[in-house]
Amino acid sequence: MEPHVPPTEPTPTAIATDGPILAPRGLAGVVVTDTEVGDVRGDEGFYHYRGHSAVDLARSRGLEDVWALMVDGELPADEERRREFRHEVRARRSLPAAVRSVLPHLAGAGSTLDGLRTALSLVGQEEHMRPLLDTPEPRRRDDALRLAAVTPTIVAALHRTALGEPPVEPRGDLAPGADLLWMLTGEEPDPEAARALETYMVTTVDHGFNASTFTARVVASTGADVAGCVVAAVAALSGPLHGGAPSRALDLLDAIPADGSDDDVDDAIRSRLERGERLMGFGHAVYRTDDPRSVLLREIAAELGRRSDEASAGVAHARRVESRAVALLAAHRPGRELRTNVEFYAGVVMDLCGVPRSMFTPVFASSRAIGWTANVLEQARDPKIIRPSARYTGPAAPRPVPPLAG
Ligand code: ACO
Repeated sequence: MEPHVPPTEPTPTAIATDGPILAPRGLAGVVVTDTEVGDVRGDEGFYHYRGHSAVDLARSRGLEDVWALMVDGELPADEERRREFRHEVRARRSLPAAVRSVLPHLAGAGSTLDGLRTALSLVGQEEHMRPLLDTPEPRRRDDALRLAAVTPTIVAALHRTALGEPPVEPRGDLAPGADLLWMLTGEEPDPEAARALETYMVTTVDHGFNASTFTARVVASTGADVAGCVVAAVAALSGPLHGGAPSRALDLLDAIPADGSDDDVDDAIRSRLERGERLMGFGHAVYRTDDPRSVLLREIAAELGRRSDEASAGVAHARRVESRAVALLAAHRPGRELRTNVEFYAGVVMDLCGVPRSMFTPVFASSRAIGWTANVLEQARDPKIIRPSARYTGPAAPRPVPPLAG
């Protein structure tokens, strides 16, 4: 679809002549800025990070290499540069003492994402993060690395605290996927599960101008500190239409009888659609073909499914629900191409890796924090505040202010 506005700011002349530009609902298809971080080509089912296919990166590189690409602009060229970056980020994983002390309160008070939001805000204060506007680039980068590095530690610590278990310290000898499993369980991570989890994490580092990334960039455009940008992004991600779907997608699989007939599966799906419900893990704002993340994760789920009969049955059930749901969605919304999105198989893969359901979206946040911060660093180089307008549709103004009755 052609963008409705040019990528550059409209000139004052254009505004004076044509009046305000009315953007479509949800800003769909509107190009609001230039970026070098990455892009999504919805019609092709392709997305990339700084020009590299994200799926190729997920198949061939670890999360820390991709992190270096996102923040510094290039993949580590050699083992030495890789080690340096790895050291930088692993050294930033520990919880600040202030966060540690409030964990019991945060873990008992709401969801893990709620706790993460508050904890990241506290990290920003404890680390004296200053507004981006007043901060030189190297310090912005430090803040960005710190926040993204500590996010998995926070979510794992919140999870364990909620279970009444002590947090497990991050380990410098472990790659991010393995370290996250270690911090969640306190057990030596299974290498295949750790690799699968890290592959998933690479696939979710960035994805165009999704709601949480846009939110982070709006806050960054005000010159606020990096922690504020990431906290706002976490809030945006917490919405079920954005990041809250993988556990709901798995709930959908649980609610459909795995040992039932195809008709039973159809009935379960159809009744949801007839009630006007959305099938979680299906549809996408941008993809009009297969979501490439879903394609990769389906493959990984199949590999993990070979590990046991139970895993194999779970993956087969997911495949059957997927195929029936896609067929019924096609009949329900002809021409919309509603297929599985990243979250459908994300839930299946994380479940097979031993990640508890309540941690699905927090794990997503842990990898997406890298993308958010890369976007924040880029936005911070543009001094223009993001400040659109709204069309007023309330009572005609000005209205007289009535006196208070009585
Ligand atoms: N189940 C049933 N109907 C759907 C679904 C679905 N999963 N997805 C879209 N539709 C319907 C919409 O209701 C819409 O109908 P309408 O025109 O009568 O309002 C129609 O299909 C077209 O919707 P789209 O324009 O294709 O989708 P939109 O951009 O509005 O929303 C979204 C995209 C939010 C992802 C939607 O597909 C959805 O709600 N999916 C379920 C939730 C989900 O899986 N979220 C995770 C997304 S991935 C991520 O954020 C990382």
